[in-house]
Amino acid sequence: MKTVRGFASATVGNVACGFDVLGFAITEPGDEVILTLHEERKSDCPVSITAISGDGGALPLDPRKNTSSFVVLKFLEYIRTSKGIDFRGHIDLELKKNLPLSSGMGSSAASAAAALAAANELLDQPCSKMELVHFAVEGERVACGSAHADNAAPAILGNFVLIRSYSPLDLITIPSPEHLFCTLVHPHTELKTSFARSVLPRSIPLKTATQQWGNVGALIAGLLKSDYDLIGRALVDVVAEPKRAPLIPGFLDVKHAAIDSGALGCSIAGSGPSVFAFSSSKETAERVGEAMKQAFLLPKTNLRSDMWVSPICKEGAKVL
Ligand code: HSE
Repeated sequence: MKTVRGFASATVGNVACGFDVLGFAITEPGDEVILTLHEERKSDCPVSITAISGDGGALPLDPRKNTSSFVVLKFLEYIRTSKGIDFRGHIDLELKKNLPLSSGMGSSAASAAAALAAANELLDQPCSKMELVHFAVEGERVACGSAHADNAAPAILGNFVLIRSYSPLDLITIPSPEHLFCTLVHPHTELKTSFARSVLPRSIPLKTATQQWGNVGALIAGLLKSDYDLIGRALVDVVAEPKRAPLIPGFLDVKHAAIDSGALGCSIAGSGPSVFAFSSSKETAERVGEAMKQAFLLPKTNLRSDMWVSPICKEGAKVL
């Protein structure tokens, strides 16, 4: 019997202007997946879920429907067809969910990435991290009906990840400026990604697209040049944020509170309801977080929230 614990942290998709093409990982919080290898196959499915904690009973125990086990099944199928490794044993999976569901914090991607890091280690690393991203992206389709990669890719690879192309998947990791800190605030309410995607326009005017891709390019340049002012100027989303802001109680107050407290910029984390801000020092990021929390508590919104301040995570999913 061999046991491996995988860990992957929260991620922020979109990063304001980069809808579905840009995301980054923070260092904590994250999900943990414990895999135990048995010599003998226990059922017709090579993976069983033995326990899930921290989800309030919301996640499926069926290994073909749960994201963390589904991606391990995809991984096993791939190593059999592409690497000639025919796994005949059995894997028990325990999921410790620390990330809230439907939060915009890349919860499903973290579970998938943690499971894949553990599975790869359990079977002596047949796959590269780039290969693992493919299965994690497929897991997103199971979790929310859309195979977006802007949480899955940074959950596995760490850093910022730009998705240049989905078909074929072409990913570019971008290191973070040394003093860039993320404040992530999660109000105690849920917003399903599938619903937050349904409110988006099917097409956008050319003028809107021009603004958006100008900001994406500028944000990448700002990250590569450690130009904090440019990063702040580029954190503008004219595509998703205007449609999704009304779905997040108090969003505009929270955003104004972040900017007034010295944040470089602020926007919706992934599909929300969490909100993130960037700052150029830890002290500012903490002050910004307190102001964002207070804004969520204003009487018209009155939402309690959790807050994390973190640098950008450099390593991605790992084995503990
Ligand atoms: N890019 C995805 C979306 C991220 O905005 O729907 C989901 O966290």
